[in-house]
Order: sequence, then C-alpha cells, then structure tokens
Amino acid sequence: MLSIIVAIANKNVIGKDNALIWHLPEDLKRFKQITTGKTIIMGRRTFESLGRVLPNRKHIVLCNDMEMNIDNENVEVLKDIKDLDKYINSSEENFIIGGATIYRLLMPYANKMYITKINQDFDGDAFFPEIKEEEWEIAATEKGTRDEQNPFDYDYITYVRK
Ligand SMILES: NC(=O)c1ccc[n+]([C@@H]2O[C@H](COP(=O)([O-])OP(=O)(O)OC[C@H]3O[C@@H](n4cnc5c(N)ncnc54)[C@H](OP(=O)(O)O)[C@@H]3O)[C@@H](O)[C@H]2O)c1
Repeated sequence: MLSIIVAIANKNVIGKDNALIWHLPEDLKRFKQITTGKTIIMGRRTFESLGRVLPNRKHIVLCNDMEMNIDNENVEVLKDIKDLDKYINSSEENFIIGGATIYRLLMPYANKMYITKINQDFDGDAFFPEIKEEEWEIAATEKGTRDEQNPFDYDYITYVRK
C-alpha cells in the first residue's frame, strides 16, 4: 500500500525554490520515526533537495531522464509509474514523500495520509493537491509540540481513504 507523508502550510503551500520553507525539528523527528525501515518514493527534484540518501530507507526516485542513474544500493531510479505496481499492491506500507508533482500523480493510489498541518501563511511555489472530503476522512489528530525550536501552531492529522 501507499501512504503519503507531507507537511502543509496554509493555502496548501509545501515548498519554495525546491526547499522546505520552515524549520520544524519535531516534524522531522516524526518523519524519521514513521519512515525508518520503509521504502520512500519521491520525485527527482525532492531527491535533489534532500541532498543525501536518508539512512535505513530504500529510496525510489521517479525521473523521466532515461540516462539518470544513482550509484547507491539504497536508491532505485524508476522512469515509469507502472513500475510502482509492486509497491502499490504490497501489504507493506510504502511512503510517498513528495514533492508537489509526485503527490498529485500518486495521490489516487494512496490509502492513508500523514499530514502535518502548519497553521501559518508562507509564500511558496509548490502546493499539495486539494484533499477532497468525499474521498478522505480524518482518522486521528494530535496537536504538535510548540516551543522555542518549533515556533509554529501545527497539528498531525491522519487521513484514511473512505
Ligand atoms: N512539505 C513537504 O512535506 C514536502 C515534501 C517533499 C517536497 N516538498 C517540496 O516540493 C517541492 C518539489 O516539488 P516538485 O513538484 O517541484 O518536484 P518533485 O515532485 O519532487 O519531482 C518532480 C520530478 O519528478 C519526475 N517525474 C514527474 N512525473 C514523472 C513521471 N510520470 N514519471 C517519471 N518521473 C516523473 C520528473 O523528474 P525529471 O525532471 O528528472 O524527469 C520531475 O521533474 C520542493 O519545494 C520541496 O521542498 C515538500
């Protein structure tokens, strides 16, 4: 199965200039907890924005460039979303980690979404698709810890497909 994990600010903003806009270490910690040991699926631009291969996770990087190859045993480059079938049909939970293009492309195949909703305006150029009420229901919510290092009002919201 596929699950989405994403941090979304007001007006569905998720990034700017191929980077995250906010620094929210509590959310990064949660991302690590949820995705460690799992397969993470991303677009080429998000892979580049990570700047490194994340430890203890298999990376699937989608890209259209037939020449593209990443020489790392934990990274597989796929050129066609049909090659994701085994991850979609697997009983294991595999994670779509962005960015905007890949969320839009793969949202129809996802059954669960782990959303960190940051209740603040940011100027951005990358956006999460609309979450349609008729397709998704909220399964859990939890208030994020707000402190000096995490100076935002934010909530963890888990959605499941209806
Ligand atoms: N807030 C969050 O939680 C979060 C998480 C992740 C990312 N982000 C943000 O999202 C932004 C990046 O999003 P983005 O839309 O620009 O880039 P992206 O979704 O990360 O990657 C797009 C790339 O994926 C490849 N691709 C797209 N469709 C494909 C297909 N059908 N088959 C094969 N490959 C395909 C293409 O690579 P090629 O061009 O190489 O062909 C395309 O340029 C950044 O600002 C980043 O910080 C935010």
